[in-house]
Amino acid sequence: MSTVNYSEKIPNNVNLGEDRTLQRALEGWQPNFVNWWDDVGPDGSTAYEVYLRTAVSVDPQGWAQFGHVKMRDYRWGIFLNPGDANREIHFGDHKGEKAWQDVPGEHRANLRRIIVTQGDTEPASVEQQRHLGLTAPSMYDLRNLYQINVEEGRHLWAMVYLLHKHFGRDGREEAEALLQRQSGDANNPRILGAFNEKTPDWLAFFMFTYFTDRDGKFQLSALAESAFDPLARTTKFMLTEEAHHMFVGESGVSRVLQRTAQVMNELKTDDPQKVRAAGAIDLGTIQRYLNFHYSVTIDLFGADQSSNAAIFYSSGLKGRYEEGKRTDDHVLKGQTYKVLEVVNGQLVEKDVPMLNALNEVLRDDFIKDSVAGVQRWNKVLEKAGIPTRLTVPHKAFNRQIGALAGIKMSPDGRVVNEQEWAAKKNEWLPTPDDFAFVASLMGRVVDPGKFAGWIAPPVMGINRQPVDFEYVRFG
Ligand SMILES: [Fe+2]
Ligand SMILES: [Fe+2]
Repeated sequence: MSTVNYSEKIPNNVNLGEDRTLQRALEGWQPNFVNWWDDVGPDGSTAYEVYLRTAVSVDPQGWAQFGHVKMRDYRWGIFLNPGDANREIHFGDHKGEKAWQDVPGEHRANLRRIIVTQGDTEPASVEQQRHLGLTAPSMYDLRNLYQINVEEGRHLWAMVYLLHKHFGRDGREEAEALLQRQSGDANNPRILGAFNEKTPDWLAFFMFTYFTDRDGKFQLSALAESAFDPLARTTKFMLTEEAHHMFVGESGVSRVLQRTAQVMNELKTDDPQKVRAAGAIDLGTIQRYLNFHYSVTIDLFGADQSSNAAIFYSSGLKGRYEEGKRTDDHVLKGQTYKVLEVVNGQLVEKDVPMLNALNEVLRDDFIKDSVAGVQRWNKVLEKAGIPTRLTVPHKAFNRQIGALAGIKMSPDGRVVNEQEWAAKKNEWLPTPDDFAFVASLMGRVVDPGKFAGWIAPPVMGINRQPVDFEYVRFG
């Protein structure tokens, strides 16, 4: 039936051409994906040629190739890290058994749910970021946004491949539904809360890629341990792409801080109104954005106690971050972990079975990793001689999911009553005025080498190109 050689049309290292049924199924899905990209992908970008990296192999040396391409012609492909025929399951009740090359019947529903939930986040973030190109602070930043967008598209392909190959008709239906849900849609929203929030401006984008793409890193790392070998291999390759997304967030916020510090020093002021009047973003606004994105993102790890988390681990579907580097028994029966609980309106620590607390374990690993980058941001302020420091809020601040949702907490970890929350909320979370101010700075600056006034240029360009390289040709 198929007249084109689809194994060339979809770059892949999974011998797609040898499986005609699968090839045809993906062939059916592909135009729907492109339609989705045209409808809700990067706004107004159809004619642009963007300096993008494309995966051409999974070798650590040569996986990326750079060149100017139109995004809808991007070679979205299917890449799995090399398999090891002798790989063994290394945690849970099946520890020591051979890894699965196909889905065991009893784990089918749970694995499908895990893959769909991960897959749903990928197109969601493209939808959330679709208008940002219209207000890019530079051509360099515009290119980074688009690189992230096409790679999130590829991550969707990665999950859709697993659904099509291993889950039959159900999998194909799920793959269609991944293109139908839409971020923020009232009737058919994306599955997880943070992926229905708006990413209204570039400060939000940098915070999102720093915090929320880092949630991606931790979820993918846990799935890279999976007994279901195709899932482990595909998520390992996704992680190499994710690193760039977090780099964009971390360096983006650093550059905003650098510019703000410069303005504060020039004007010899820490008055937010004066900083704003000079066209930079005051540190209070940056802290409130941080508080929002951090708290919304840690909700993504789910309830602090979860029987599903225990089942996913014990049955080998989802491990812990860096499972292989841990020195315990990798079964975790009889072990405990401390979680926070609300008792009489106060937080208390409580020991619970570790298997049930694995969401919290992953969240705590994420928190450690996040804090390290915030300390690097503070170095920017320190170097500039600014005494203010950014902090991550308390774990219980602004939570909507799990036991901590039932409490009002200040960022510095005090339980507060409703009145205090209402009175202080505007100091702790971005206000309509903050959003309006940041929005007022968002003009489009896209001449090569030019940068908006609220952000410093990067130290170097992409792929050793100069900072003023023509990263996007507008055509
Ligand atoms: Fe992703
Ligand atoms: Fe990402």
